[in-house]
Amino acid sequence: MSTFDFDHAPDRRGTDSQKWQKYAGRDVLPLWVADMDFASAPPIIEALHRRVDHGIFGYARPVQSTTGAIVEAMKRNYGWKIDPAWIVWLPGLVVGLNVTAQAFAEPGDEVLTLSPVYPPFMSAPKNSARASITVPWAQDGRGWAIDWDALERAVTPRTKLFYLCNPHNPLARVWRRAELTRLAEFCERHNLILCSDEIHCDLILDPALPHIPTAVLSPEIAARTITLMAPSKTYNVPGLGTSIAIIPDAMRRARFLRATAGIVAEVTCLGFTACEAAYRDGEPWRQALLAYLRGNRDYLLEAIARDLPGVRVEAPVEATYLLWMNVAALGHANPAAHFEKHGVGLSDGAMFGAAKGSHVRLNFGCARATLVEAVRRMKAGLA
Ligand SMILES: Cc1ncc(COP(=O)(O)O)c(C=O)c1O
Repeated sequence: MSTFDFDHAPDRRGTDSQKWQKYAGRDVLPLWVADMDFASAPPIIEALHRRVDHGIFGYARPVQSTTGAIVEAMKRNYGWKIDPAWIVWLPGLVVGLNVTAQAFAEPGDEVLTLSPVYPPFMSAPKNSARASITVPWAQDGRGWAIDWDALERAVTPRTKLFYLCNPHNPLARVWRRAELTRLAEFCERHNLILCSDEIHCDLILDPALPHIPTAVLSPEIAARTITLMAPSKTYNVPGLGTSIAIIPDAMRRARFLRATAGIVAEVTCLGFTACEAAYRDGEPWRQALLAYLRGNRDYLLEAIARDLPGVRVEAPVEATYLLWMNVAALGHANPAAHFEKHGVGLSDGAMFGAAKGSHVRLNFGCARATLVEAVRRMKAGLA
């Protein structure tokens, strides 16, 4: 039995939670934005207590033990040897996506990605007058697959960047080495910078599938890769605004840093504290979390098959706590609004680039009992 109690999540109603405020005063279970309802790992909370007790919250810089914890975690978890000098601290990964677009593409240039995908992959380029070009995911009978011909056809002389979501949100998909290698070769052949968002990398649910950081494929790939990572999703500290870009190539790192100058806020002392504790001491909690999330996933897959006709999960849920559901058969123009009326707040798939009415995304990073109630409500909504 787990020593951590994920069944009894703290009550977040009436707090600063963005996720819960959306439905304040309404009986809607918020299963939308990607944070979890669990308290963070005890070593993180304890480290934060100690830091708060110090009582001074001045401008902060990471101490050696903080960068050391990241370097160690990369080596331990992925066999990736990184130099501390490669690390650029950021207040968020979305910041990283935006900075990457500004640093490595000019106005009017194109940023390629596969959709559906986490919405800022498509909005970040547009924020600075770069274009977002999306290639739809295909299906090959076993699950989601890349349409390599369509990807080749999408490249133009103005294509400068490829945004990769590794593992993929919202498809909950872990990349296989052969696919990553082919994608990296594609980027090399077209001279594209590869921005690899790996925020969900420590949330792999299928123990047989290792996370492969894109940059470990080869030194040449590493040189053109901007890897974005954070303890935020895994340890449920996204509100502490602490993320990193790992950029091995010195020239490209300098270019990235220039694009942040004077605009991107510094990481706070509490963020550094949480980050170090997460990467150094968070592993037992993370393992327990993964076990609980697997249970949530398995419960949902069974419940959907049994109780929710017309709702389909199209591929194995290999990573993340996000479930992408095909609801096209229900025939609702806006399925998210429909389920919201029945007390379940999901994300509308159209935001991720899916056809309107075709998909919704459910966040299962919550107590099992919440999911049981959500399924009951969704079932009622289908009746
Ligand atoms: C793929 C991906 N990247 C980035 C983010 C958000 O990152 P941040 O809060 O650090 O900007 C999310 C949040 O759901 C995500 O799924």
